[in-house]
Amino acid sequence: MHNSVMLAEVLETLSPCESEIYIDATFGAGGYSKAILEKANCSVVALDCDPEAYERSVSLKNQYGNRFSFYESRFGHMARILPAQEYDGVVFDLGVSSPQLNQAARGFTFKSEGPLDMRMDKKGIRAADIVNTFEEKEIAHILWTYGEERCSRAIARAIIGKRPLETTTELADLVRSIVGFERKGFDPATRTFQALRLYVNDELGELERGLDASEKLLKTGGRLVVVSFHSLEDRIVKTFLKEKSGSISQLSRHFPTVPREQATFILKNKKALTPSEDEIQKNPRSRSARLRWAIRA
Ligand SMILES: C[S@@+](CC[C@H](N)C(=O)[O-])C[C@H]1O[C@@H](n2cnc3c(N)ncnc32)[C@H](O)[C@@H]1O
Repeated sequence: MHNSVMLAEVLETLSPCESEIYIDATFGAGGYSKAILEKANCSVVALDCDPEAYERSVSLKNQYGNRFSFYESRFGHMARILPAQEYDGVVFDLGVSSPQLNQAARGFTFKSEGPLDMRMDKKGIRAADIVNTFEEKEIAHILWTYGEERCSRAIARAIIGKRPLETTTELADLVRSIVGFERKGFDPATRTFQALRLYVNDELGELERGLDASEKLLKTGGRLVVVSFHSLEDRIVKTFLKEKSGSISQLSRHFPTVPREQATFILKNKKALTPSEDEIQKNPRSRSARLRWAIRA
């Protein structure tokens, strides 16, 4: 199914306790939710925007009854849709789950042939709509902004010349022919696929809204734990936590944006935690994970 990434570190930092209530903002295959429910006699409110995640949540509901509830929703909306109460912890495990990646029909991976879809919630525009209808400039902008792809313009030009592109392999082959192989073990199509996926699902906007919502939902002493997988996400989390904990200086390092006495979070790690060598060996997908956490002041 899905190997939950940095699970031991998530449990350590979230530190589930009896009677407390946690939000698992990215249910996925339920690995975090289940481990939290097993760790203490607490409750978990889980969200995922993928309708297939709801199907996976049913067995947890059967097992844990009213200690567990599931909302099919984007976490950017959670302050509005979750029961109004104070929560003891929020955890995010960003990106896609193995069940999503492993199904070629969802279009997330260039490793197998599938439609250019990439929608987590199965709604709205698909990756195919971007490559087949957007202007060359817009495509280049997306590849540069969300994939940090240095060959964004050349790829966009090639896409325009080749469309319509319908499958993941058609697009991946096209990108490989432009970028060429740079280093062993890294597919040149990675950045283009990341960019399209982030854009299709508005993942960076969602992350900003999700972090703001966590600030509203957490009680004093509540833990915010975020596991991210690439530098664009990690930068947003790092900046949010620095700002909210009064550790960012705008004009000078002696004048933080938020005075420390008004800080809403206490930053727990300046340097992100990373997976152990052992975990990376067992689950290479964990390689790029970064965990940051803070306590609601
Ligand atoms: C990496 S997986 C989580 C895996 C989970 N921690 C586990 O142990 O099984 C990320 C999940 O978050 C969901 N997701 C991503 N962005 C979301 C958003 N904005 N709102 C709700 N769910 C989201 C995806 O659909 C995916 O199922």
